[in-house]
Amino acid sequence: MPATVVVGTQWGDEGKGKFTDLVAGETSMVVRYQGGHNAGHTLVVDGESFGLQLVPSGVLYAHVTPVIGNGVVVDPRVLIAEMDMLESRGVSTGRLRVSGNAHLILPYHQELDALHERHLGKNRIGTTKRGIGPAYADRSMRVGLRVQDLLDEKIFRTKLDAALEHHNRVLTRVFNRLPVDGDAIADEYLGTCAPRMAPLIADTVSLIHDQLEAGNHVLLEGAQATFLDLDHGTYPFVTSSNPVAGGACTGAGIGPRHIDRVIGIAKAYVTRVGAGPFPTELFDEVGDYLVDVGNEYGTNTGRRRRPGWLDAVMLRYAARVNSLSELAITKLDVLDGLDTIKVCVAYDADGERHDQLPYHQTVLHHAEPVYVELPGWKQDLSGIRSRSELPAEAEAYLALVEEQVGVPIGMVGVGPGRDQVIRFGDQG
Ligand code: GDP
Ligand code: IMO
Ligand code: MG
Repeated sequence: MPATVVVGTQWGDEGKGKFTDLVAGETSMVVRYQGGHNAGHTLVVDGESFGLQLVPSGVLYAHVTPVIGNGVVVDPRVLIAEMDMLESRGVSTGRLRVSGNAHLILPYHQELDALHERHLGKNRIGTTKRGIGPAYADRSMRVGLRVQDLLDEKIFRTKLDAALEHHNRVLTRVFNRLPVDGDAIADEYLGTCAPRMAPLIADTVSLIHDQLEAGNHVLLEGAQATFLDLDHGTYPFVTSSNPVAGGACTGAGIGPRHIDRVIGIAKAYVTRVGAGPFPTELFDEVGDYLVDVGNEYGTNTGRRRRPGWLDAVMLRYAARVNSLSELAITKLDVLDGLDTIKVCVAYDADGERHDQLPYHQTVLHHAEPVYVELPGWKQDLSGIRSRSELPAEAEAYLALVEEQVGVPIGMVGVGPGRDQVIRFGDQG
């Protein structure tokens, strides 16, 4: 049986959690393949809201095995706290499995993340300060500790001491900080976390392939998004992993031939948290409207998200690099109150029109969006469940997006609830 990828097509917070939860109803396993607790995925079921950072969004279903794949960076303290939160709310986490090959986030990664940001000053990236970048850097430098190291005290200590030999020099000599105490880390990670983590640690590659070979469906849940991708995003204002669909192969341990459906999640407008270019950014009252009505504050860090109009140039690029088979448009209901709605269909820069994402990123900093302007529908869409009930203006907006991006729309979100969705495939 094939695998499906859910991937963000913009700068994150598109509603990946909601749509993963929705599609997970038809699958037997949901795998997170990259990122860490920089993610904040919100699920709303029967009016109850769950904010997830590390646990895959399929956890609410008893028939789904949630898996944290090898491509994720795991802070075990955060994972344990999230499991406790879920258990206290009646959600069983006993089925959760974590790859032994996933890398650990250690306290010094968080300290280094904050110090790097401070050091960058006005050029800072605006990271979540969760230690994501430094943990992936250690992985690339081959001085990282892995989840499986929690199971062997001697290996854990040896690797930790080797890593600290380097990091403590940087902390004391470059940043003028106190050295990190390896004993305290070992006490917390081996003493407190390891006993809780041990039953979860597994060969997740085997678990995933057992499901595929048994004819079951596997869903791969991306965190962050295409334009925060280390290779394809607006570098250096990106995260340190590969959220694009290709990242699902390396981060879960499957080949591309298993994937036959890639759902690109796109918000009906765009938001971005942190620094970096954003051609359709709005600084006016329409931007304030999108932030207020869309409640655009980070689930994770509480930061105000920067708002802007939908950008079809970005979505065309996302369609290519992810091989999108369909789009899921989220938060269409947030546009309900607007008189007119704009969609960016190209950029103008230096006297040239760009239909595709400009190769040179400098262009993005001064690109002028070319907009198509459409009338709004000024109607509450939140109760609509079928395409035929949509007002003509909303249908025209969605038709324009499909035409501009060249990818069919499969689902449309009209509210945060699991049931607040219009399935296009069903109704033609
Ligand atoms: P993710 O990181 O991509 O999973 O997205 P977040 O959970 O960070 O942000 C999306 C927010 O929009 C959450 O608060 C969701 O509950 C909410 N949401 C998702 N889909 C819809 C929708 O169609 N309409 C509305 N109004 N809210 C939505
Ligand atoms: P979800 O999965 C939105 C952004 C940060 C910063 C940049 C690098 O909820 O969509 P990092 O801490 O990863 O080194 O920060 O990436 N960022 C996100 N923005 N949604 C996210 O996750 C994000 N995860 C990281 O704001 O600009
Ligand atoms: Mg989010």
